[in-house]
Order: sequence, then C-alpha cells, then structure tokens
Amino acid sequence: MRAVVYNGPRDVAVQDVPDARIERPTDVLVRITSTNICGSDLHMYEGRTDFPRGGVFGHENLGQVAEVGDAVDRVKAGDWVAIPFNIGCGFCKNCERGLSAFCLTTADRSVMPNMAGAAYGFADMGPYRGGQADLLRVPYGDYNCLKLPPDAEERQNDYVMLADIFPTGWHATELAGLRPGESIVIYGAGPVGLMAAHAAMIKGACMVMVVDRHPDRLRLAGSIGALPIDDSKGSAVDQVLELTNGIGADRGCECVGYQAHDPQGHEHPNMTMNDLVKSVKFTGGIGVVGVFTPQDPAPQDPLYKQGEIVFDHGLFWFKGQTIGVGQCNVKAYNRPLRDLISTGRAKPSFIVSHELPLGEAPTAYRHFDARDDGWTKVILKPAA
Ligand SMILES: NC(=O)c1ccc[n+]([C@@H]2O[C@H](COP(=O)([O-])OP(=O)(O)OC[C@H]3O[C@@H](n4cnc5c(N)ncnc54)[C@H](O)[C@@H]3O)[C@@H](O)[C@H]2O)c1
Ligand SMILES: [Zn+2]
Ligand SMILES: [Zn+2]
Repeated sequence: MRAVVYNGPRDVAVQDVPDARIERPTDVLVRITSTNICGSDLHMYEGRTDFPRGGVFGHENLGQVAEVGDAVDRVKAGDWVAIPFNIGCGFCKNCERGLSAFCLTTADRSVMPNMAGAAYGFADMGPYRGGQADLLRVPYGDYNCLKLPPDAEERQNDYVMLADIFPTGWHATELAGLRPGESIVIYGAGPVGLMAAHAAMIKGACMVMVVDRHPDRLRLAGSIGALPIDDSKGSAVDQVLELTNGIGADRGCECVGYQAHDPQGHEHPNMTMNDLVKSVKFTGGIGVVGVFTPQDPAPQDPLYKQGEIVFDHGLFWFKGQTIGVGQCNVKAYNRPLRDLISTGRAKPSFIVSHELPLGEAPTAYRHFDARDDGWTKVILKPAA
C-alpha cells in the first residue's frame, strides 16, 4: 500500500510500505478514503518530536471497513466509520471512565514505565502506523470504530473531523467549563481553535473571541459569528479586556501549543498560557488542548528542552482560575457530535480548504506547515 512516510525534518514522501492487515482477532481493517493533515503532524514534520524516521503519519481517519477479525461483532465489512485518533482498549481503568486518551493497555511502556495513551502515527504514542495510507489497522475495532449514517460517503468532509479536531475543540470548551451565556476567548485560529469556536457557538456562548494573525483563518472565525482578534494589530490581552469591560472572558482555550510565537514568528512556549491568565476573568476556567511535550529535541527556548515554561503562576493563583489540559478523549464526544453533524446542527467542514490525492501529501505538508494563505485544512483522499 502507499503511505505518507516521515524521512526527517520537513521531508515526507508517499512510499510503498507493507500492507496493513488483521493482526489480532479484535482488529478491523479500514480502506481509508479521507485522512486529514493536523497541526499535531506539523510538530512531528518539523522534527520537534522524536517521531521515528520511516514512520507513517495520519491520525484523523475515515473510511470503509474492508475486513474484520474473528472476534469483531458489531462492525461489518462495508460499514463507513470515523476512527478516533486515540487507540483505546475499552476495558482498562481509564477507558472505563471515558478517558480513552489515557488507555493503560495500548500505551507504549518503553516511552516511560507508567505511560498511558496511544494513537496512530504519533510521537511517543506507540508503534501504531498512521492512516495517511490506503489501509489502516484499527485495534479493538468494535470499540474504536464509530459507525456513520447512510450519508457518510457524501459528507465525509464533515464526519472526518470526528476523528480528532471537532471533539478536541469541544473538549477545550469542556475543560474550560463553558456554560451557555458565557464569553470565551480562544487562542489559535487553526483547525482546532476554529472547532473550539464552532463548539462554543453551538453551546450558546454569548461571545466567542478568536485570536490569531492569519487573515484567512480569522475570516473563517468571523464566518461562524465569532469575533476575530488580530494580535498583529495590538495586544490580544488588551483587545479581550476592552471587549469584556476590563473584566476578562469567562473562559479561555489554548489551541496553539508549545510552538506558540509572536506575530513576528519568534517562539515563546509560554506566550498563550500567560496571555490566557491575563485575559480570563478572576475565577474563570482555562482549557488547554494545544500540545505541550515533555521534551523538545530542537527547542527555540532552552528551558523548553525539558518541556518547562515560565508560567505566571502567581497571577493564576491570585485570580483563582482553574485549568484543564491534555489530549482529547475522542470517544467521550464523537457519538453526539456525529449526531449534531447528521442533523445539520454542526458543519465542521467549513474549515476545509483543500481535498487532494494522497500523492500530493508532500506539497500539502509544505503549504500547511508554512500556514500559507488559504491552506486552512487539508483532507487527503487516498481512494481518489
Ligand atoms: N489535545 C488534543 O487532543 C489535540 C488534538 C489535535 C490537535 N492538538 C494540538 O492543537 C494545536 C493546534 O492544532 P491546529 O491543527 O489548529 O494547528 P495549527 O498549527 O494549524 O494552528 C495553530 C494556530 O495558532 C496560531 N498561533 C501561533 N501562535 C499564536 C499566539 N501566540 N497567539 C494566537 N495564535 C497563535 C497560528 O498562527 C496558527 O494559526 C496543536 O498544538 C496540535 O498539536 C491537540
Ligand atoms: Zn489531529
Ligand atoms: Zn484502555
């Protein structure tokens, strides 16, 4: 099969690799028809993680079931499925509690002895190959495949967002504790930030502010009724305070991660975290889904080599804020979010700028990584 293979920093190629296949009776084999490039892929693509050379990217996957193992009951060949980026088992202590991003049995214990959580094509998240390929092996297929309604094939561009970013944006607003009628500020108008904004609008936020400096991304935020805040035109914190009578937003979301930078491009891994503390009100809640890593092999800030940032803990404490962080437990949300899509209440495909054949992956990575104007979200179509 063909797959998007990582050959080193900013070097991916579409290569032939051994076919994915059923390895255990609980596996499902999926023929991938839609697979997104994610901001999380970019941390790896840029060589800012220890993703192995020769590994296959791709954790936002949708397709049609090609084959099922002997112990698979619910999922059948021919079903259309969206596959959460997390690989859970369904029976461990964390999966049972809905914390599928922290599965205890699928994790790679060579990373650290108490490691929790696994994903496809992801640094430190196990040996599982990604789905930017013709085929994907899905472990514990009955648990990890979300079956899609009859309109799945024609509305793939919406449903594929269930694999990661729509639930992740939703999760950011949950971690922040958003309730109807509250205001929220979201740092980052990439796909994840835009999904957090979409979630906040659906949940009935009174005001959704989205901070970035890319006009195309800010325009998309405006297109769903959020207030775009361009931090290249002035301090984001000041603009949020002005819009909230000096009080700050009720809630805040971090949808950027450790490669946060100023509008001039200089990285400050603490920038969004400290801006959130300043632009969220006293007693407000902050949800952090932007990725932070325990190590950075090529840090731009020496402190971040070990994942450390200078955090304004004093002000955070003084303001009595709360914070929630981490990978999204996709299984906790993907079923109801699927139903919001199928009834037309949610339309996460509004961010999609490009649908490209798998062979175009190297070009797509280059443009999406450069945040080139108009490259807001790419879906690769291996079957095209
Ligand atoms: N927690 C999870 O489960 C999960 C899932 C998916 C993605 N992520 C992470 O979410 C983050 C965002 O993903 P994405 O696909 O939207 O990526 P992206 O890189 O396309 O978007 C990030 C956006 O943040 C903007 N930005 C950079 N510095 C900023 C700053 N200081 N203030 C405001 N905006 C700033 C950039 O201009 C860009 O538009 C990444 O770190 C990704 O790894 C986490
Ligand atoms: Zn992703
Ligand atoms: Zn588990």
